[in-house]
Amino acid sequence: MQYEVVLPAAGSGKRMGAGQNKLFLPLANQPILVHTLQVFEQDENCTGIWLAVKDEERAYIQNLLTQYGITKIKGLPTGGAERQHSVHSCIKEMESVEVVLVHDAARPFITIPVIEELTRVAYREGAAIAGVRAKDTMKIVEGGIIKETVDRESLWMIQTPQAFRFDLLAEAEDVAEKVGFLGTDEAMLVERLGHSIHIVESSYENVKMTTQEDLLFGEAILNKRKATSAN
Ligand code: C5P
Repeated sequence: MQYEVVLPAAGSGKRMGAGQNKLFLPLANQPILVHTLQVFEQDENCTGIWLAVKDEERAYIQNLLTQYGITKIKGLPTGGAERQHSVHSCIKEMESVEVVLVHDAARPFITIPVIEELTRVAYREGAAIAGVRAKDTMKIVEGGIIKETVDRESLWMIQTPQAFRFDLLAEAEDVAEKVGFLGTDEAMLVERLGHSIHIVESSYENVKMTTQEDLLFGEAILNKRKATSAN
């Protein structure tokens, strides 16, 4: 199933404390952003990449694209103050396609089988998002006091990619913009339309590079993959 992907890359990454866009930090000698781009460059079902960027970083990113041979870029729109705005800036420039994926540029370890399943389910059902089962006991805490222990069986930790029929996501974003609703992921916007969203089980390796220790996990994941592919 063919698709186009939106990669919001216009964040500041304050929680990383790197003093620059965290996507430019190296993992095994390549910027995090390049690792993510390479997944989609290599996936033959991906027919276009839309990257939301900051104006002042566009030239630097264009250099990276040339340097690493990324050829599928269809647009580099200017991102916004919030991630949702950055995604919307891409959706507004895109022509309608069957399926669109939204994926955090800061998640470089997504794998092609998960992408394939997401696009397949989104094409059939309208919306499908990646997630993993909660491993820890989960409690609701208010004012430092446990209020309730939540049944873990029904809890999932949500990741990206999130895949949608293009028209459904475009409508959800337009409605959210009109009423000023800000969600933390695209699925929230689609949920508000009353549309059901399917979950596709992903991997705990699909971590978002958020804080310094994530870089250590990232190096470990890359080393493990290198060792596996050498055998
Ligand atoms: O900050 P966080 O890691 O949650 O951001 C997730 C993704 O969204 C990152 O790839 C980041 O670059 C992007 N983002 C964006 N525009 C913003 C904020 C975040 O494109 N205003």
